[in-house]
Amino acid sequence: MSDYIERFRTSERILHWVVTCSFFTLLLTGLGLYSRLFNGFFGLFGGGQGAILTHKISGIIFFFSSLYMFFNHKKDVSSFDDSDWQWIKKYGGYLTKYGVHFDIGKYNPGQKLFAVFIAAATVALGLTGIFIWFPGSFPRWIVQMSLLLHSTMFVGSIMFVVVHVYLATIGNPGTIEAMLYGDVRTLWAKKHHPKWYKDVTEENQ
Ligand code: HEM
Repeated sequence: MSDYIERFRTSERILHWVVTCSFFTLLLTGLGLYSRLFNGFFGLFGGGQGAILTHKISGIIFFFSSLYMFFNHKKDVSSFDDSDWQWIKKYGGYLTKYGVHFDIGKYNPGQKLFAVFIAAATVALGLTGIFIWFPGSFPRWIVQMSLLLHSTMFVGSIMFVVVHVYLATIGNPGTIEAMLYGDVRTLWAKKHHPKWYKDVTEENQ
């Protein structure tokens, strides 16, 4: 029996890293537009105009790649069963001293919430972004509301992503291998996603 099991295909990993690169480009270019405190980042993009252009281009890339990623794993992030309830009731076991076992599928409820939030934020950021991009074509109040919603979703997304990156790296050792190499250790799979492990191994028998 192999010590590894495939979690993500190459195309899924490339898509995730396209989303990640465009997200961080948006973050760097957006920070300077958000507050003068971060104007220094404009230097990375050849000045303010360069940063705005890069923000628009990476915004289009992020919008389509992020929604495509969501629809790619919509089935896994929109299902909900009794084990997910147990996970929520016990806060994912993160507050317990002793290991708690949950019969979790491909994603746990925290990951599902993150994926759904990012998809919703993508739509909201994309739509409000269009109103901000062409301010002269829409009523003033729509543009102002868009600026408010755009910044709120921007801050919310950063908070979610910080937690995501922590849990996907040092928080849960072994997880990053899924996105780097496509394969994860069977021990990791049995520990974190036992139901998914069972389903995949039965399918391949
Ligand atoms: C350096 C930054 C990032 C790292 C190291 C990272 C790492 C990972 C890893 C290892 C997984 C697989 C988790 C598993 O197999 O259970 C994953 C999944 C995922 N990532 Fe990222 N990621 C990063 C940035 C992002 C960003 C910026 C977004 C979106 C804005 C994102 C969205 C997702 C989604 C939706 C999933 C699937 C659901 C989930 O596991 O939460 N990631 N990421």
